[in-house]
Amino acid sequence: MRKIVLGVTGSIAAYKAAELVRLFVKNGDEVHVVMTPAACEFVTPLTFQTLSRNPVEVEQFAPPAQWMPEHISLADCADLVVIAPATANTIAKIRYGIADNLLTATVLATKAPIVVAPVMNTGMLENPVTQENIAALKARGVKIVDPDSGELACGATGKGRMPEASEIFESCLGL
Ligand SMILES: Cc1cc2nc3c(=O)[nH]c(=O)nc-3n(C[C@H](O)[C@H](O)[C@H](O)COP(=O)(O)O)c2cc1C
Repeated sequence: MRKIVLGVTGSIAAYKAAELVRLFVKNGDEVHVVMTPAACEFVTPLTFQTLSRNPVEVEQFAPPAQWMPEHISLADCADLVVIAPATANTIAKIRYGIADNLLTATVLATKAPIVVAPVMNTGMLENPVTQENIAALKARGVKIVDPDSGELACGATGKGRMPEASEIFESCLGL
C-alpha cells in the first residue's frame, strides 16, 4: 500500500482533486490530503477527509497529533507526493524552496518522488517565469503532468486546464 500525500492548492479546479482521491483510494493507496489555505476557499477539507478517510491538514502551526512537526511526519511517511491542481504560486515557491505553509514545507522536507499538475490561466502558464519554474522542477526530477487545452474557468480558451483525474492517476503509477 502506497502512502500518498496529495497537495491541493488554490485553483478553481480544486474540486477535481476529489475524483483523484477516489481513484487512489480505490487503488488501495493511503491518501493524506494537505490543502493550502487558499484551496480551502474553493473546497472544504471535509470533502477530502470523507473521500480519503483520513484527517486533512491545512495549518502549519496546529498542534500535531504526535510530537513530530506535521510537515516532517508527512514528508517522512510519503511514498509519493502529488500536487494537483498546482497553482503558479505554489510551483514558484517549490522551485525556490519556500516553506511558508504546510504543503510547501512538506515538499521541501520530503525525499519521496513528486508529481505536479500545473493548472492555471493561459497567461499565467505562458509567462516566462512560470515556464522557467516548471522547467527547473522538471530538471530536478519532478514529474510534470502537462495541463490540457480547452475552455478555462476565466472564460478564455487555451492551455491550463486540469487534466482528467484518471490521467494524473496513471502518471503516478510505478513511481
Ligand atoms: C476564482 C479564482 C480562481 C483561481 N484559479 C487559479 C488557478 O487555476 N491557478 C492558479 O495558479 N491560480 C489561481 N488563482 C489564484 C490563486 O488562488 C492565488 O495565487 C493563491 O495565492 C494561490 O495560493 P496557493 O498556491 O497557496 O494555493 C485563482 C484565484 C481565484 C480568485
